[in-house]
Amino acid sequence: MDSDDEGDTSVLGRHDHWESVYTRELSNLRQHGDRGEVWFGDAVLQATADFAKQQLSCHPHRDISSARVLDVGTGNGTLALELRKRAFQHITGSDYSERSVELAREVALQAGEGDITWVGDDILNTQLQSGWDMILDKGTLDAIGLRSDADCTQFEYVDYVRTYPVFQFGGQEGSRVCTVAFKKKMQG
Ligand SMILES: C[S@@+](CC[C@H](N)C(=O)[O-])C[C@H]1O[C@@H](n2cnc3c(N)ncnc32)[C@H](O)[C@@H]1O
Repeated sequence: MDSDDEGDTSVLGRHDHWESVYTRELSNLRQHGDRGEVWFGDAVLQATADFAKQQLSCHPHRDISSARVLDVGTGNGTLALELRKRAFQHITGSDYSERSVELAREVALQAGEGDITWVGDDILNTQLQSGWDMILDKGTLDAIGLRSDADCTQFEYVDYVRTYPVFQFGGQEGSRVCTVAFKKKMQG
């Protein structure tokens, strides 16, 4: 997901686009066992899950088995599954595409992970309860920023965690990816 013009909007900001993407991925899963696209590739997936584990590991009042973690815009749920592999117990994946929720649930069941919670929810008008220990998103804020009605002043990146190498092929530049984190200030 990349735009050279920050003023651009894109199909990636449209709900109907994601419904059609996940309808296709659901069909591929059922027919061929294909889980669908891993956005930004496996290295970013692993780094994001490792980062989440590392953050909670050094939290004085939380541990991985009790932490409540939300993956916003979960897509096919691969990040949530990676968190399960790292012993997170209370994971919820949400997405405003109902087909994504269906896909993520089926992918997880096929992987033997029946106890992840999947919910349909538009994060811009969320009905989810608060109280999460960690909220993750991989690619969702980008998609929201590409909506035709996006108000980018709503977002403020506070810190870079990591950037990833850019690959080039045939004179074209490939994905540019970075990871950012926001941390809530603790009281007292
Ligand atoms: C680039 S995909 C990333 C999917 C997944 N996080 C991953 O890494 O594979 C962006 C996701 O954000 C979801 N999304 C976009 N806008 C959303 C919103 N307002 N609320 C919840 N999910 C949203 C899309 O349906 C899509 O699944």
